[in-house]
Amino acid sequence: MIFEYFRDIYEHSLHLNPEKDSDFYDCAGDLLATDEVKSLAQFVQHDTINRLRHIKSVSYMAYALTKHYGLDYRTTARAGVMHDLFYYDWHEKHGGHRLHGYRHPGFAVKNARELCGGLDEKTENLIRRHMWPLTPTPPKYKEGFILCVADKYCAGMELLICQKNKKAGK
Ligand SMILES: [Fe+2]
Ligand SMILES: [Fe+2]
Repeated sequence: MIFEYFRDIYEHSLHLNPEKDSDFYDCAGDLLATDEVKSLAQFVQHDTINRLRHIKSVSYMAYALTKHYGLDYRTTARAGVMHDLFYYDWHEKHGGHRLHGYRHPGFAVKNARELCGGLDEKTENLIRRHMWPLTPTPPKYKEGFILCVADKYCAGMELLICQKNKKAGK
């Protein structure tokens, strides 16, 4: 049941439409329209899936779950868009982004702050803690835990889809 529910949300995230999904776009559409966020399409995130697609899926999934539980879905959708806001290919070896898994939430906070001209404490915490439990300090908010779950679920789905495509020779 829960797996189907998650999969349905994930699949929906691949076909987001500003008219049909107007509530989601009311929350995060301004961020998705920025050049900074759109530029994430040039970076591979997982296998052949680019970072723009990844952040849209994570944001939508976390938005849908927090909305379902009566939580702060607007902040969650916005933090979801910006949780991996860094402008480099993390697969490339480079001293500037050594220990990427631990450090990129901090890079994303800095870039999100620049993008928004400042960040409220909750949005910052959601972005900064999204790699928990790899980074040991847990999120402060329920929405942060949901963002962690959405991020891991989407990453898993992305790797699975790429694996299936490879097997199918696509
Ligand atoms: Fe991340
Ligand atoms: Fe992510």
